[in-house]
Amino acid sequence: MPDKQRIMMCAPDHYEVSYVINAWMEGQIGRADRTLAVRQWNDLHAIIARYADIVLQPPQPGLPDLVFTANAGFVIGDIAVVSHFRNTERKGEEKYDHEFFKSAGFKIADWPKDALFEGAGDALLDRGARLIWTAYGLRSDARAATLLGQVYGREVVTLKLVNPHFYHLDTCLCPLTGGYVLYYPDAFDAESRGKIESVVPAGRRIVASKEDAFAFACNAVDLAPRVVMGNASEGLQQALRAKGFDPIVTPLGEFIKAGGSAKCLTLKLVEE
Ligand code: ARG
Repeated sequence: MPDKQRIMMCAPDHYEVSYVINAWMEGQIGRADRTLAVRQWNDLHAIIARYADIVLQPPQPGLPDLVFTANAGFVIGDIAVVSHFRNTERKGEEKYDHEFFKSAGFKIADWPKDALFEGAGDALLDRGARLIWTAYGLRSDARAATLLGQVYGREVVTLKLVNPHFYHLDTCLCPLTGGYVLYYPDAFDAESRGKIESVVPAGRRIVASKEDAFAFACNAVDLAPRVVMGNASEGLQQALRAKGFDPIVTPLGEFIKAGGSAKCLTLKLVEE
């Protein structure tokens, strides 16, 4: 990890569930409690602020999912790829994300307008090897992998998502410092599971149970040795401790109603 990480967050002033674009949002329109969401977000903010500088993106009325800054884009060094959302409901976020990265000092990479890519929701840096994990199947296009490889000159491992509850890569896979990967195998097709097994040695794979996966335990923020997460069973916390990690669990249930948890609410801005 860099000496001091900088993490992008966006306060939930306008957060709500007002449309359905993933399986978690079904039946949740109007059901998120903003007061509780603010409290949960403030608690997450306070935890992250102990270990990283937080850079805030201004919230915008009418863009309730802007809080999920993982989807703003993807960065390595001083180059940012700004997201190109699949759903019209989120396309309005793109110009604010563009402005954010520019004002934060990033160069914006060229990217074809029609290549769908949802940022660090679907592209994650491995925390051991020099490679990028990407996913397609539900949100980002498969060709985003090739494009990212061209922008950053890095090896990219592409995985196919097959379960609508795990529509972004960061809902079901989390690279952890030291080359560990916490993941939920059933979110991927067989070929992708094989790729994960061939890249990550057995001793570095931490498999989330169905219960943990559906509680968003894989949506964790790696601040090694800490792992910040919205939920994790005792068993998973023990498994993490056995590998030298220090899980910090803070409830984020109001955000699960929109299909997100700890990792979705953050974006690391210092990446090498
Ligand atoms: N409602 C948002 C969507 O469906 C949630 C995004 C969660 N973000 C994430 N990185 N998984 O797009």
